[in-house]
Amino acid sequence: MSLLPSPSWKLPGALLLLSLVPVAAGAVRLLDVLKVSSGGLVTAENTRFMTMPGAVLAHIVAASLFCVLGAFQFDAAIRLRFPRLHRITGRVVALSGILTALTGLWMTAGMHIPAELQGELLYGARLLVGICMLLAISVSIRAVLRGRIAQHKAWMIRAYALGQGAGTQVLIMLPVALTAGTPTFFFRDILMTSAWGLNAVFAEWLIRRRWP
Ligand code: HEM
Repeated sequence: MSLLPSPSWKLPGALLLLSLVPVAAGAVRLLDVLKVSSGGLVTAENTRFMTMPGAVLAHIVAASLFCVLGAFQFDAAIRLRFPRLHRITGRVVALSGILTALTGLWMTAGMHIPAELQGELLYGARLLVGICMLLAISVSIRAVLRGRIAQHKAWMIRAYALGQGAGTQVLIMLPVALTAGTPTFFFRDILMTSAWGLNAVFAEWLIRRRWP
């Protein structure tokens, strides 16, 4: 009988659930960009995405890989039972995270996003989150290469928590949208930014209780 713990769907399942709406929204946007690129209708809603379709496509594919594959990296049982798989998937997750942050920064700085969807607060938060995500992944990679596993884990928790800001944004925005109408301008900026803040605080809490 193996003494190793059995993998459970609880943690990966919860993280996959959190990723569901951003990944589905990404698939819809990706199909729309591909459709417009092959002669489909440019609308007021999708025109800004067509100014940098390459960045949009790379962002969506990388962010989806980061959220979905990353969901399986934190389960201790999966890690212990399948260490080779953890290492292989980890490389893909780290590269996807870097690409997500780089393309996110590129779109933040280069895309004409209307003020009701991105004011100065959200602009600044996106730049800060993108840079912090890049730093967290870099420190995490450096740590694992030097055999500092606890440090590697802590920084990957931080990077993943920032990436999963998209999932928490859905959890925060959806009830507001359903009860008070779609949030816009500064109120939207505050809601979007607070999702990253919440995730960052939650990550620090998890790291301090030496999870998982
Ligand atoms: C892994 C986490 C992330 C996921 C799942 C994700 C997902 C998405 C999706 C699906 C879109 C298309 C939105 C639409 O169709 O309206 C998008 C757009 C965008 N993302 Fe991300 N993203 C993530 C991380 C980031 C990060 C870290 C940044 C900033 C550095 C960022 C910046 C942006 C920007 C600026 C846009 C364009 C927004 C607009 O024009 O309204 N994203 N993202």
